[in-house]
Amino acid sequence: MAYRHRIGRRYNPPQNELSYTENFLYMLDRLSEENYKPNPKLSKALDVLFILHADHELNCSTAAMRHIGSSLVDPYSAVAGSAAALYGPLHGGANEAVLRMLEEIGSIDKVPLFLEQVKDRKRKLFGFGHRVYKNYDPRAKIIRKIAYEVFEVCGQESLIDVAIELERIALQDEYFVKRKLYPNVDFYSGLIYKAMGFPTDMFPVLFAIPRIAGWLAHWKESLEDKESKICRPRQVYVGPRVRSYVPLELRETSDNNINTKVEHPFSKRSLVATFDNKDPTLSKL
Ligand code: SDX
Repeated sequence: MAYRHRIGRRYNPPQNELSYTENFLYMLDRLSEENYKPNPKLSKALDVLFILHADHELNCSTAAMRHIGSSLVDPYSAVAGSAAALYGPLHGGANEAVLRMLEEIGSIDKVPLFLEQVKDRKRKLFGFGHRVYKNYDPRAKIIRKIAYEVFEVCGQESLIDVAIELERIALQDEYFVKRKLYPNVDFYSGLIYKAMGFPTDMFPVLFAIPRIAGWLAHWKESLEDKESKICRPRQVYVGPRVRSYVPLELRETSDNNINTKVEHPFSKRSLVATFDNKDPTLSKL
């Protein structure tokens, strides 16, 4: 419904005779057609993708679900917190980050330069690496196969060649081999979603939809666990013992301050607009 609202179209109620992923596609895409049925290869591909994404032990967002749920808050609030954790580019937001990375690389001949930047720690190879899998994420193998089934229906996604070349070189490169960095679940999924025509910023949503099943399973299990208590980790404070108060105007800005300066607070349009007390140098930016 959020997708339909975003594109300014009325909502489609689910149809009893359709499966979960058939209904998902029906509710997204039917306009006024009678007996609208999504392409079975796409609903099947989504079904496999959703199952692969449903649950995965205590990943960052599921751990958040258990942590938040331990205060006995309602499941909607706990899911909202877990979705926030999932959205991060190191976690479920990686499928979107992968696509933006592939689009930025653009072509196979640019792959070696990008990987050099990764090895210089200037860039991250999104879709690679995993805290648990120090080898090829078994889900990525299946997703890569599904990609070609979807391309048969929706047309080949040209960036797959860049992804394949990235994987080919990285899997032979000492930097990645030594660190046991292999493709993970997010490396190919974004290419499928792009080929299916989903907006790139909706990819983390397509991760969250199936993962809600896993979050709720963990939430329910923790509620049923009689031993379950509120999550309250202890910390070992290693900071300074005594610090005297320093009035604000006397404080030094510490050099490791994160750069809080807002670059170009003005939009390009306001830079060329006129207003009282405008700095004459502004419009030259
Ligand atoms: C998911 O936990 C789950 O199960 C998650 C998930 C699920 O189903 O819920 O599988 C879904 O989140 C998959 C991961 C998606 N994220 C990405 O694709 C983002 C890119 N990956 C990395 O940021 C990283 O690999 C993580 C976050 C996934 C894992 O981080 P770790 O386990 O903390 O690994 P690390 O940072 O300790 O890395 C070890 C070394 C480091 O180098 P050194 O400092 O030892 O020299 O490998 C390097 C890292 O710098 N490294 C990478 C890298 N991942 C790790 N270098 C470049 N690119 C990367 N992607």
